[in-house]
Amino acid sequence: MKGIVLAGGSGTRLHPTTLAVSKQLIPVYDKPTVYYPISVLMLTGIDDILIISSPEDLPQFRRLLGDGSDLGVRFSYAEQERPNGLAEALIIGASHIGDDTVALVLGDNVFHGPGLSPLLQRNARDVDGCVLFGYQVSDPERYGVGEVDDSGRLLSIEEKPAVPRSNQAITGLYFYSSDVVDIAKNIQPSARGELEITDVNRRYLAEGRATLVELRRGYTWLDTGTPQALLTASQFVGILESRQRVRIACLEEIALRMGFIDAEACHRLGERLGKSDYGQYVMEVARSWRPRVPVTAE
Ligand code: G1P
Repeated sequence: MKGIVLAGGSGTRLHPTTLAVSKQLIPVYDKPTVYYPISVLMLTGIDDILIISSPEDLPQFRRLLGDGSDLGVRFSYAEQERPNGLAEALIIGASHIGDDTVALVLGDNVFHGPGLSPLLQRNARDVDGCVLFGYQVSDPERYGVGEVDDSGRLLSIEEKPAVPRSNQAITGLYFYSSDVVDIAKNIQPSARGELEITDVNRRYLAEGRATLVELRRGYTWLDTGTPQALLTASQFVGILESRQRVRIACLEEIALRMGFIDAEACHRLGERLGKSDYGQYVMEVARSWRPRVPVTAE
């Protein structure tokens, strides 16, 4: 499976903060926002990831993430010239997807929860059509909304409905089979002039090839689109990280756990960031990994 992170958009709801910097590069607590969606793809087992952003912002993403080889993955980059909608990412990423399945994740979505990695890996297997992830929210009218019957079968999908048929928001993580490129190429821009991901998903629904996996209680899904949402996400991550001394979306740790790099390489990555608490944590993770890395002389 290939991965795509869409880190575009103009972040207007975060102005003036995002006038000069991409919203996916500002921090959620202790790391850039884009680390969170990248971590989701890596936890799914994906090591080939296309990052899509605007021509102005893309160089900063390259500067932050490089080619991925340090993390044992491959990052490549593509421009979205204008914010023409989420579904355009699938057209821009057509050659990256090729004949493979693909996971598309939005660059400002934060997911966390026990067993997230096996849940993602299970649902990434043999995708035929689309797999969507639902999350119960108090304000479904802000999102894509999925309606399911008692047996969990998906009945309808609507984008930001004034009167939602359920409280299941469709989160910004989507698994597709390779025919998604053709579907994305054939949808028409919506009233707001964008190629809507919801229209892609509705095509699969009409073909009976759409599945909604509910992320139940115990999982966390947050977005970071407004100052308050950003603060809430930062507080959430800050509380968990300081209480337990674990880190959410620490790419170096995930690369180690997923077997993309060994403990020695992980330790070296921590050393580079050693003055920060994040870097110290990466070194600790590497040191306590079995088999242990030799402790380097100070
Ligand atoms: C987009 C999608 C929406 C989805 C949301 C998740 O909305 O259109 O269906 O629920 O992402 O973050 P946007 O954030 O572009 O308004």
